[in-house]
Amino acid sequence: MNSADMINTVPVLAGNGDSPVPEITEAQFLAMLDKNMDHVKQFFMYYKCAIMEVETKFKVLNEQFSLKGDSNPIEFIQSRIKSYGSLYKKMEAKQLPRTLEAMEEHVNDIAGVRVVCSFIQDIYHLADCFLAQDDIRLIAQKDYIREPKPNGYRSLHLIVEVPIFLEHEKRPIKVEVQLRTIAMDFWASLEHKLRYKKDLSAAQQRFLSGEMKVCADQSAQWDKRMQNIRNIIY
Ligand code: GTP
Ligand code: MG
Repeated sequence: MNSADMINTVPVLAGNGDSPVPEITEAQFLAMLDKNMDHVKQFFMYYKCAIMEVETKFKVLNEQFSLKGDSNPIEFIQSRIKSYGSLYKKMEAKQLPRTLEAMEEHVNDIAGVRVVCSFIQDIYHLADCFLAQDDIRLIAQKDYIREPKPNGYRSLHLIVEVPIFLEHEKRPIKVEVQLRTIAMDFWASLEHKLRYKKDLSAAQQRFLSGEMKVCADQSAQWDKRMQNIRNIIY
């Protein structure tokens, strides 16, 4: 049995996919992770390595593009492994059996890489170059720039599989890549903070949703105009 089989067959958490998913609390979930820490560490190490691979690909493109233009297309990259608490919430919401296998198969954003650019055209160019690489497999793409969410959220999302090369094997690992402008990122961070504000009245919530939508539309206009200005300059 290789390490991959071991990870996938060890009943790390609870439930087996056939029987109804047992209700477990977050504390029980964390205790189960703790009990199987060797496997859990190995499992998350794969995602950490996949993040390194994806980050490097974008950094390489950034280096090359910066020679052609007068500045770097990428302002910054932020990466994260999903926290145990968020994984618990997502698996509960999706009614998944609490196994690493189910997590690997159904949770697409265990590894997340966010690439923030100044200009919209750079986002699409970077995404095209990244997806054209022969070791990247595109699983899903959601273009919330062309089709924003009703609340105004904008970003280009790619779910990809990238191979990581280990001692004795090569493993494809899923990574969620979010590409957005600085303006989109500014908006999304504030909107994210608002989501966790639970003590707002219904009237306040309505007001803030309206304000956020207006800000999203205005900043999208601004992104377009800044792009036009750059197109005229270069
Ligand atoms: P799940 O990953 O199962 O939730 O799939 P999904 O189809 O709902 O994914 P979606 O593409 O809608 O969102 C994935 C990620 O994008 C989220 O985890 C957030 O990081 C980000 N995101 C999506 N919508 C919003 C939004 O309205 N506001 C903010 N701030 N972030 C969002
Ligand atoms: Mg979602």
